[in-house]
Amino acid sequence: MRNRQSSMIVLALAIFLIIIIYFFQSEALFGPMSNTSMNRDQAQSQSEADQGERTATAEPLPIPELLEDTNPHPDQATFDIVSQNGSKTFVNDVETETMGYNGDYLGPVIRVRRGEEVTINVENQLEDELTTIHWHGLEVDGEADGGPHSGILSGETWSPTFTVDQPAATLWYHPHPEKNTGRQVYKGLAGLLFVEDEVSDQLAIPKTYGENDIPLIVQDKQFNADGRFNYHLAMPDIMTGLQGDTMLVNGSIDPYLEVNQEMIRLRILNGSNASIFELAFDSGITFHQIASDGGFLTEPVEMDQLRLGPSERAEILVDFSQVTKGEVVQLMNRNQSFMTFNVEGQAETAFTVPDSLTTIEPIEPSEAVRTRQFVFQGMGPSVNINGKQFDIDRIDETISLGDTEIWEVSNDSGMGMMGGTVHPFHAHGVQFQILDRDGRAPAPNERGWKDTFIVEPGETVRVIATFNSPGVFMYHCHILEHEDAGMMGQFEVK
Ligand code: C2O
Ligand code: CU
Ligand code: CU
Repeated sequence: MRNRQSSMIVLALAIFLIIIIYFFQSEALFGPMSNTSMNRDQAQSQSEADQGERTATAEPLPIPELLEDTNPHPDQATFDIVSQNGSKTFVNDVETETMGYNGDYLGPVIRVRRGEEVTINVENQLEDELTTIHWHGLEVDGEADGGPHSGILSGETWSPTFTVDQPAATLWYHPHPEKNTGRQVYKGLAGLLFVEDEVSDQLAIPKTYGENDIPLIVQDKQFNADGRFNYHLAMPDIMTGLQGDTMLVNGSIDPYLEVNQEMIRLRILNGSNASIFELAFDSGITFHQIASDGGFLTEPVEMDQLRLGPSERAEILVDFSQVTKGEVVQLMNRNQSFMTFNVEGQAETAFTVPDSLTTIEPIEPSEAVRTRQFVFQGMGPSVNINGKQFDIDRIDETISLGDTEIWEVSNDSGMGMMGGTVHPFHAHGVQFQILDRDGRAPAPNERGWKDTFIVEPGETVRVIATFNSPGVFMYHCHILEHEDAGMMGQFEVK
């Protein structure tokens, strides 16, 4: 009897402990972490932010340059990109080692047009280190896609050519070397890729790059007490992926942007390795989402909060004409301000929110020739899809070119209280339409083209796509540490 009682107590204690551990893990899962992992300055600036007192105007928002197209031919474009080592000061006047495209951190915006034949020369100047460059969201052949098969050795150049044939969209590019993607992206290798077309030409929305059409690459980082950042995986990052307590926008901490009292378009990329952002403006002002990963929605969706998983993009219109001149509007992630808009000038433009944006033909489930299942499973080093970890010599799924298929993606990594992990699913070379989430119609802002979508613990998301690009492509979890650990597979379209 005694024994029985004490073992019951031990068991209860153990369960209690497990719950506590899971609680802290899921806390970390939701972005910026508890104060324990911050240095004093960060903790202080965070508490200032929490009190909403800071009009912090550290530095103006850096705007990545638009990369020059060096090809004079109107239907062709040529771009030159160099992956390189660099250094940059983020905090405490300390220089830290970084990586960038054509610079020290992040890269220029590559802007292409539908119908254009594009060549991009990518030179790897990284010291002794292989890289690749992947055009995330671009519908091109496997040969040009830049996945793990397209390694560029240090000192070499890779020059894919492809024809752009998809609607206007905000896409992005980043490295994709096997088992080393998380580190290279974390160090700074990422940039935006805009596709423009007749629809984006004709829409009456802000489109003056850097003035009223503003890119926001949002990331979170962990800084050491000395102001450096390392890529070092400890607990809980091994489980959750690398999450930070300091937000960067276009590589800058807490920047400001001066805007006029008018409509501004923001092209937002969640460029984090592993965090889900919940973005909102402090004053509670609403905004309209006009585009998702693969292009414009059919009509603007009014929102007061935007949830973006790693690698998801959203374009939003924010109407600063409703804000008094001289006021400051803060952009927040889960109640932490990380950027301010200083509303300074009179309106110079008079954009309103359009009633409609584009047309999207819904792909009918009856057109699908088959349904494939993908199940996210495992934790930490054992993360996998359908029980298999990545093997570059194995093709997991074979698809006939031109076929329409339904993909049913579920997340088997535990639920609720027991600290299940959210996994964002992504596939290369294709844009999906979301059919349903656990049988329910997707939210209005998820009714456009998607190449990456969140799958909640216990959830099943059904998506549909037509596979028009031939070649070998990746599908994976876009928590980069999960991808690197093997939560990735390959499909061949032929
Ligand atoms: Cu952002 Cu495999 O991709
Ligand atoms: Cu991709
Ligand atoms: Cu994952």
